[in-house]
Amino acid sequence: MRTRTPAARAALALGAALALTLTACGQSSEGGSKAGDDDPQGGTIGIAMPTKSSERWIADGENMVKAFEAKGYKTDLQYGDDKVENQVAQLENMISKGHEALVVAAIDGSSLTDVLRRAEEAGIPVIAYDRLIRGTDDVDYYATFDNFKVGELQGRYIVDALKPEENEGRKFNLELFAGSPDDNNTGFFFRGAMSVLKPYIDDGRFVVRSGQTKMNQVTTLRWDGGTAQKRMDDLLSRHYGRERVDAVLSPYDGISIGVISALKSAGYGTGSKPYPVVTGQDAELASVKSIIAGQQTQTVFKDTRELARRAVEMTDAVLNDREPEVNDTESYDNGAKTVPAYLLEPVSIDKSNTDLLVDEGYYTADQLK
Ligand code: GAL
Repeated sequence: MRTRTPAARAALALGAALALTLTACGQSSEGGSKAGDDDPQGGTIGIAMPTKSSERWIADGENMVKAFEAKGYKTDLQYGDDKVENQVAQLENMISKGHEALVVAAIDGSSLTDVLRRAEEAGIPVIAYDRLIRGTDDVDYYATFDNFKVGELQGRYIVDALKPEENEGRKFNLELFAGSPDDNNTGFFFRGAMSVLKPYIDDGRFVVRSGQTKMNQVTTLRWDGGTAQKRMDDLLSRHYGRERVDAVLSPYDGISIGVISALKSAGYGTGSKPYPVVTGQDAELASVKSIIAGQQTQTVFKDTRELARRAVEMTDAVLNDREPEVNDTESYDNGAKTVPAYLLEPVSIDKSNTDLLVDEGYYTADQLK
């Protein structure tokens, strides 16, 4: 674990500010920055989020800004528009400005090695947010949800909904989707789901008619809903002429929405051809509404407010030479080190418990109407 005095950090940061040329980044910035501020209270935290195309990351960013400001920090929140080079440029810029710490939800988990080496040289601690940063020693802590469990909840939901045990002799058609291949979470979600589904696929009770059961056959670059929709269109036209698909493993609400659009175009959602079970993740508003309307079946709620709070606590602890609280020191080997992590609990949501999101204050009852 690194221990640096604030003064040492400030000196390093100042050195970095002089050594680095400022790289253009073209994204909006919130809050100012005091390069070389030797008092962590009031210094600036760089927050690098992947994209504004999904509500959750907007909420994540806003929640962290609020929580850091409540602790007396300034913030510099940047979104990379899902382009790796934007995120690298934004981080370079944050380092050259001498920000106190970086909180990063990586677009591509393996492309930040060089820029984070510069953060390390400048004495700037790095917290990986939601997505593990891979292939580097220069990441201090990781705040996330139990990602394997997210996949397990999705897989378990499909089994519980189709009830193969009660339908002996019946075969159910299942298709699989995974997330972006460059996101470390993708493997955790997929492995978690397959830990539940694979035995049913192996013994023939679940049939994947496309034959696409390996993760590298079913990934969705940048979690893009349109990409998923195209793949689902293709699967339906090639493999489901007469047959119906009974369940679709979707790892994320944006993908679920794409899958459901393809199903709708293929005539699903009517009495004789009901929607299959479609899972999801993030409890995004459009998906919760879709669940209430009987289209998407399930999502996994991850309270981004809790995650933001946890990341802010971790950052504040590191900046004050305290040990951040972690509850997992084994699962997240990034190829260079095992990153100490705090895992929060994901919760499965379907039609029967969308109220929980209102009770928890995540959405208002009006929003779900
Ligand atoms: C993952 C994240 C999911 C989902 C997805 C797409 O890394 O864990 O909750 O948001 O990205 O944005």
